[in-house]
Amino acid sequence: MNQEKRILCIGAGYVGGPTMAVIATRCPQYRVTVVDVDETKITAWNSDRLPIYEPGLDDLVRSARGRNLFFSTDIRRAVKENDIIFVSVNTPTKNFGAGAGMASDLQYLEQVARMILEHAESPKIVIEKSTLPVKTAQALERILGCNGHGVRFDVLSNPEFLAEGTAIRDLENPDRILIGSRETDRGIKAREALAEIYANWVPRTRIVTSNIWSSELSKLVANFFLAQRISTINAVSAVCEKTEADVVEVAKIVGMDSRIGSKFLNASIGFGGSCFKKDILNLVYLCQHFGLPEVADYVESVVKMNEYQKERFFLTMLTAMFNTLAGKRVCLFGFAFKADTADTRESPAIFVVRKLLEEKAEVIISDPKALENARKDLSDVNGRIQYVEDPYEAAAGCHAIALLTEWDLYRELDYRKIFSTMSKPAFIFDGRNVLDHKSCFDIGFNVFPVGKPSLTHFA
Ligand code: NAD
Ligand code: UGA
Repeated sequence: MNQEKRILCIGAGYVGGPTMAVIATRCPQYRVTVVDVDETKITAWNSDRLPIYEPGLDDLVRSARGRNLFFSTDIRRAVKENDIIFVSVNTPTKNFGAGAGMASDLQYLEQVARMILEHAESPKIVIEKSTLPVKTAQALERILGCNGHGVRFDVLSNPEFLAEGTAIRDLENPDRILIGSRETDRGIKAREALAEIYANWVPRTRIVTSNIWSSELSKLVANFFLAQRISTINAVSAVCEKTEADVVEVAKIVGMDSRIGSKFLNASIGFGGSCFKKDILNLVYLCQHFGLPEVADYVESVVKMNEYQKERFFLTMLTAMFNTLAGKRVCLFGFAFKADTADTRESPAIFVVRKLLEEKAEVIISDPKALENARKDLSDVNGRIQYVEDPYEAAAGCHAIALLTEWDLYRELDYRKIFSTMSKPAFIFDGRNVLDHKSCFDIGFNVFPVGKPSLTHFA
C-alpha cells in the first residue's frame, strides 16, 4: 500500500512502542517510525526479543515491522521526514533541586523540543503523549516559537490511558481518545489531523476534544481517581481486619451501586507501577504551586494510604510469624507490580523484600516474567536473595509464602504439594486475595488474606 502519510514517535518505551504498533497495524497507509536515544532498546525492538513484555505485542510488531513500522536511533532524520510527531518520553519524579520527590522531571521533554526545533524544516504537529503537568504545552510552544527559520509548530495534548498488561486491548478498544488543543483555527485544524488517524479504528463518538489545559489536567485527574479508589478500599480493608467483615463482600456490595461501579475495588498490598504515585505527587506539587494547600493534602493522602497499606502488610507478616523473621525463609510469589507484565517499577514487592532483609529473613523471589528486572532493582542486596522461577522449587523449605502479584499461575498450583515441602508452621500471606483461602487452611497453612479474617491453626 502507498504510505504517503508519515508519523513519528520519539520515545520507544512502554507507551511509545505498543501505541505505534497499534497505529501501524490499524493504519497501513501510514509509515510509522519510532525513535529513541537508547540504542539497546531500539536493537531489541528490531529483534525477536522485544524490550517489554505485553500480551499480543509480539504478533503486532512482527507483522508490521519492516512494512510500515520502523524503529531507529536516527532522530534528526526522523524529525526532518515527519510532520506529525508524538512525544512519549519518560517524565519521572524529579529527584533533585526544587520540587525533588514531587514535581515532574521535564528535562527529557525539553531536550526533545529543542531537538525538534533544531532539525525541523517544515511545519510540524507536536503531540504530548507523555503525562505532563498542566501548562507544559505553553512551555513547549514558547521553546518551539524561538525558531529563526519561520517553521510553524502546533502543540496538541493527547494523553495515553492504557494500562500495562492490557495495553494492546486498551489501545485497540479505548474508552476514549482525548485530544486537547488551542481553540484557535490552527489548533482545531491540528486536532482534526490527529483525530483522523484515530478514526481509522476508534468510533468518532469516543474521540473527545477539549481545551489543551483540560486535556493535560484530565490525565492526572484520571490517575488520581483510579488510585483513590484503591486507597479507599485498602483503608476499608484495615477496618475489615479489625471487625471480621470481609472486604471482598463489602467491595461487591458497594460496587453494585451504579454510581460507584465495581471496577478498581480490589483490596491489595497497595498499588505500584511507574505512574500512579508519580502523577499524584505531580498533582500535589501543582496544587501547592497554585496556592491550594488543602487540595494538595487531600490528594497526597492517597499516596500516604498506599504507603501505610504496604507497611501494614509487612507488619502482619512479622506479627503472625511470632515477631521474628531472622533466619526464616520467605518466598515471594510474584515481583511484577501487577500480572501480565515484567515491569517492576514501584512494585510493592521491592518494599516487602527490603523490609524482610532488614529483619534478617532469607528471601526467595519467584515470578514468571519479572526476575530480570527484580535483579536490577535489588542489585545492591543481590547476595542475600535467591531468584527461582519455578514456584514449587522456590517455596521448598520456606516458612512462608507472600503472594504479591496476581499471576493466574499462582491460582492453579498444587498447594498440598507445596505445603508438604515447607517448614511448619507454614504461612501464606495473600496480598491479592486470589487464593482459595479455606482450602489452603484445610491443607494446613495459616492463611492471612487482605481485609478478611485470617485462618490459623493456633488456639
Ligand atoms: P519509558 O521509560 O518506558 O519510555 C520512555 C523512553 O523515552 C525511553 O526509552 C527513553 O530512552 C526515551 N527518551 C528519553 N529521552 C529521550 C530523548 N531525548 N530522545 C529520544 N528518546 C528519549 O516510559 P513509558 O512508561 O513509556 O512512559 C512514557 C510517558 O507516558 C510517561 O510520561 C508516562 O507517565 C506516560 N504513560 C505511561 C503509561 C505506562 O503504562 N507505562 C501509561 C500512560 C502514560
Ligand atoms: C494505570 C492506569 O490504569 C492507566 O489508565 C494509566 O494510563 C496508567 O496507569 C499510566 O498512566 O501509567 P497501570 O499502572 O499500568 O495503569 O496498571 P493498573 O491496572 O492501573 O494497576 C496499577 C496498580 O494498582 C497495580 O499495582 C495494581 O495491582 C493495583 N490495583 C489495581 C489494585 O491494587 N487494585 C485494583 O482494584 C486495581
